[in-house]
Amino acid sequence: MRRILVTGATGTVGGAVLKALAATADDDVQVLGASRSAAGDAAIAAAGHAAVRLDYDAPATLRPAMDGVDALFLATGYTVDMLVQSKRALDAAKAAGVRHVVHLGALAADDTPLAHFAWHQLIERAIEAMGFSWTHLRPNFFIDTAWAGVRARPDRIVHFVADRPVSWIASDDIAAVAAVALADPAAHAGKAYPLASERATFAQVASVLSEVTGRAVEYRPRPAAELFAILQRQGMEPVYAKSLAEGLVLAETGDLPLADAVFPTVEEVTGRPATTWRAFAAARLSELPRAS
Ligand SMILES: NC(=O)c1ccc[n+]([C@@H]2O[C@H](COP(=O)([O-])OP(=O)(O)OC[C@H]3O[C@@H](n4cnc5c(N)ncnc54)[C@H](OP(=O)(O)O)[C@@H]3O)[C@@H](O)[C@H]2O)c1
Repeated sequence: MRRILVTGATGTVGGAVLKALAATADDDVQVLGASRSAAGDAAIAAAGHAAVRLDYDAPATLRPAMDGVDALFLATGYTVDMLVQSKRALDAAKAAGVRHVVHLGALAADDTPLAHFAWHQLIERAIEAMGFSWTHLRPNFFIDTAWAGVRARPDRIVHFVADRPVSWIASDDIAAVAAVALADPAAHAGKAYPLASERATFAQVASVLSEVTGRAVEYRPRPAAELFAILQRQGMEPVYAKSLAEGLVLAETGDLPLADAVFPTVEEVTGRPATTWRAFAAARLSELPRAS
């Protein structure tokens, strides 16, 4: 029986990967979701999978979690610790004999000077140099991240890129591509997949949201120079936050390469069209608080 381990399984993309793998259930495949808490175990069980204890910051948990694993989905959170956490996970995966790694990275130019993009690229190079078979996922702006803001305040969408278009991807689409690569590594080995399906400004997103929700949604641009302080107030790890904010300063002036690039990857890999902002919002209308 093949065994697939999904890290970040309690997060946005990893959770979607678990769901995508459940939808393509195969009796010859066991899917494990990595968790570091009882609440995480329960969420993974609710998605129909077994949970395995894995904490990147408790290295002794890593090697046992990889036992018998053939294919690994490697996802980390919004922190500079992603570097050491990925290194530890890859060392454990190598020791356990994991063959294929699907890495959740980010879309960026190869020569990007921005730290969080560079870290993802260094992790990709480590995966390749360690001799794994690999598939690199390189998503751009997550629709889900912006949607979380809309859920909190459905009358407005705040962002930091002025009137610049950016390119969007839904986490379910990242997950669908990941699930295909995890299920059939040979067909997707050595492939780097850019994941960005729809190009839209925030004003265009707000207009779509107004139509779909039936109530006015306004785009409120704020200067990108303010973002770092905001991220700090929100508690984001400061080294990652600094790089993210620097990236949006470049995006605001149109100087971030690939910021609005789109690719047919989702349709090519999964055989179904990518999720648009309109379809995403329509499917999740029930998540919004009722209009007063
Ligand atoms: N948002 C965007 O627009 C965007 C665009 C491009 C790329 N990305 C990339 O996407 C990635 C983030 O994905 P996401 O939004 O799915 O993240 P997320 O929702 O924040 O989830 C992070 C996951 O990592 C787990 N985790 C955190 N610390 C851990 C530890 N010490 N040991 C084990 N697991 C740990 C979390 O588990 P707990 O539930 O236990 O905390 C959670 O499952 C980042 O690498 C980012 O660079 C994001």
